[in-house]
Amino acid sequence: MSKRRQLFVYLIIGILATAVVSGCISQKETTPTATQAQKEVLEIYHWWTAGGEKEAFDALAKKFQEKYPNIEIKANPVSGGAGVNMKMILQSLMLAGKPPDTFQVHAGYEMARYIKANQLSPIDDIWTDDMKKNYPDVIEQMVIFNDHYYAVPINVHRANVIWYNKKIFEKYGIDPASIKTIDDLFAVAEKLKKNGVTPFALGDRNKWPATQVFEVMLVAVGGIDYYQKFINGEISDNDPTLKKVLEYFVKYIEYSNPDHAAKTWDEACAMVYKGEAAMTLMGDWANGYFKAKGWKPDVDYGAIPIPAGVYDLVIDTFVLPAKAAHPDAAKKWLSFIGTVEAQNTFNPIKGSIPPRMDAPADPYDPIQKAFMKELKSPETKMIPSIAHGSAVPEAFAADLNDIISELATSKDVNKAMTEIINAMKKDLLPNKIKEWKLS
Ligand code: GAL
Repeated sequence: MSKRRQLFVYLIIGILATAVVSGCISQKETTPTATQAQKEVLEIYHWWTAGGEKEAFDALAKKFQEKYPNIEIKANPVSGGAGVNMKMILQSLMLAGKPPDTFQVHAGYEMARYIKANQLSPIDDIWTDDMKKNYPDVIEQMVIFNDHYYAVPINVHRANVIWYNKKIFEKYGIDPASIKTIDDLFAVAEKLKKNGVTPFALGDRNKWPATQVFEVMLVAVGGIDYYQKFINGEISDNDPTLKKVLEYFVKYIEYSNPDHAAKTWDEACAMVYKGEAAMTLMGDWANGYFKAKGWKPDVDYGAIPIPAGVYDLVIDTFVLPAKAAHPDAAKKWLSFIGTVEAQNTFNPIKGSIPPRMDAPADPYDPIQKAFMKELKSPETKMIPSIAHGSAVPEAFAADLNDIISELATSKDVNKAMTEIINAMKKDLLPNKIKEWKLS
């Protein structure tokens, strides 16, 4: 167990509330039908279809196949960042009693609905002492419900990062080290705008990228304590800090491409890549995207955590559905996900960092290495992401997506304030299962 336990006190109140390369199969001269009969199937759902994401999953699946040539992976990638479409498909599969053998889900609240409905099996036997020793407590606690483990995290993504085009910064003499706070960032945005450059690329067609900007404003303007109050549902009517956060959000939108509502997160990254915008606020899956395009980290593009010293956690995990048709194959997958080998195959490509603290840093790029160091530092403040399902009940996260994406167009701060407070009363407080304590 790591020394970071004191950083998050995670009180559980409720719920308690493929393609197998056929050559890998070294059966003697069996007929194709007989060979097929010997294979165990492992059906996986995930949403990694964009640049970097797809390559990372393919490498992970390939590594698993090398170890288990008799398991045939049937991957079902459903496009739509943050799982916007996959989650809906999954709910229908669950209702029909036909879940896949495992699927991608964010650690924290996003898992709650499945656990409440008894749709997941506990996987305490998968969590070896070696895993318990090497995962930080903060992360471990996010997959424990009712004292049982329900998921294995494959990565740690960071949501609060500004990605910038180095050529543009150099052209306008902008020093990335000068950007530490949100006001520093807006000063740079103003300078770029005056020079006719679009400061920020945004693609909030699927809503969550706008909510992600909002959550970064929340911590950048209000600080960790305020972020904690917000995710615990403790904001009062007409709260002046919330008003300021929303005004900052609107300011961010005003410095963004006007067609933001028509684009996806990766199309926004493409604007930075093509030099059509200088920066984008996005999780470090953007790093995977840029690398897949052939861009070199710290050469063609750079990363600025905003605000400095905060790590906004987005953690992808895999779980075991109670009605999985092939639980043995799924358990092999889950055990594999918990190894350094799997994590160091997947994360260098994905742009994330490994959740296991004993994973060697050599396969990672300089941005990832710096993030690994930061996550281990006791100075770093960790917060769970709202937009990516960890920090608040799903119903409230959905409300927020609607309110914030409407605000991005209407810019009506007072209306958004009232709606957020109402949604907090209606959908956060009644569904609250945890009391967050961040420090
Ligand atoms: C996040 C997910 C990341 C990344 C991103 C865009 O929710 O955790 O792994 O893929 O969505 O799809």
